[in-house]
Amino acid sequence: MPPRHEPGPLVQRAKIYANVCVEKEPEYSDYEQLNVAWGEQDHYEVVRKVGRGKYSEVFEGVNVAGETPSRCIIKILKPVKKKKIYREVKILQNLQGGPNIISLLDIVKDPHSRTPSLIFEYVDNTDFKVLYPTLTDLDIRFYIHELLKALHYCHSMGIMHRDVKPHNVMIDHSRRQLRLIDWGLAEFYFPEREFNVRVASRYFKGPELLVDYRLYDYSLDMWSLGCMLAAIIFRKEPFFFGHDNYDQLVKIARVLGTDDLYAYLEKYGLELEPQQEALLGNHSRKPWSKFVNADNAHLATPEAIDFIDRLLRYDHQDRITSMDALNHPYFDPVRQGAPA
Ligand SMILES: Nc1ncnc2c1ncn2[C@@H]1O[C@H](COP(=O)(O)OP(=O)(O)O)[C@@H](O)[C@H]1O
Ligand SMILES: [Mg+2]
Repeated sequence: MPPRHEPGPLVQRAKIYANVCVEKEPEYSDYEQLNVAWGEQDHYEVVRKVGRGKYSEVFEGVNVAGETPSRCIIKILKPVKKKKIYREVKILQNLQGGPNIISLLDIVKDPHSRTPSLIFEYVDNTDFKVLYPTLTDLDIRFYIHELLKALHYCHSMGIMHRDVKPHNVMIDHSRRQLRLIDWGLAEFYFPEREFNVRVASRYFKGPELLVDYRLYDYSLDMWSLGCMLAAIIFRKEPFFFGHDNYDQLVKIARVLGTDDLYAYLEKYGLELEPQQEALLGNHSRKPWSKFVNADNAHLATPEAIDFIDRLLRYDHQDRITSMDALNHPYFDPVRQGAPA
């Protein structure tokens, strides 16, 4: 039998937008040189706490400086490296005005503690655990398409988000408005650059992160999107429920099978930790139809399943790109402007 794939030279760079940051002016990605124009902290008053992450405490606030007070979000950063703060700010600034990218309104510093806060546009978000189960097939297609617009835009600007998950996607359902937030782990993509694999939240970590492949790219975000969408469509939250990083790969292998995992490792010359390999066992690939049941059949349409299948591939190069994803047939009803 002829080989399934012609063994060509191994490409280890993003399939699209690989040279965006190389070609832009150095200031675009050199965030350490950033000059922050600090605003006035006393323009903003805290109203109530709305969330907390690993790196921040987040409050609903009000801007009392203008003619009429306006609602905003105050993200008070926990003590982290200055570099990380500058990276988040620079990336937010680069992406301002892009589709469904959260607006950064101001950056302020507490005069006493010198703690920096980021001021954002406010989104009247409904918790995803409440909202997602109420969404119709068309709503899901609409919001995933909106999320893809944000992802395609950041990829086209040379930026990987690296923390796509429901907690970082704000939806105001009454306005059908979606915003991609939390650019704290986002990074500029450069070909041939090795990146930290300790990014994304466990359930959304791509196989590349779990097998310590550091030359990853924008396709990481497409895996995370696949995890989000599979959880919504199959009504299984989270879709890959790992108890630690090793178990996360086991949960993935129980669905995608171990044969394709080993083919992936071989292609990129990767090896598992002995302990990781021992935990893995042998699993066959499960057909997506195994996840369809009476409760989710109205969402798990053939186009939805095909799209999930194009996202959840071990080999990051096999995953659909954000550019192609926008044109997937799953979104036909949305692009044709079907009423909600
Ligand atoms: N613009 C916003 N509108 C509404 N809620 C927000 C907004 N920004 C953040 N939040 C809430 O605060 C939480 C933490 O913010 P995030 O930027 O994700 O910080 P972290 O980096 O600490 O995870 C979010 O998961 C969300 O619940
Ligand atoms: Mg977050």
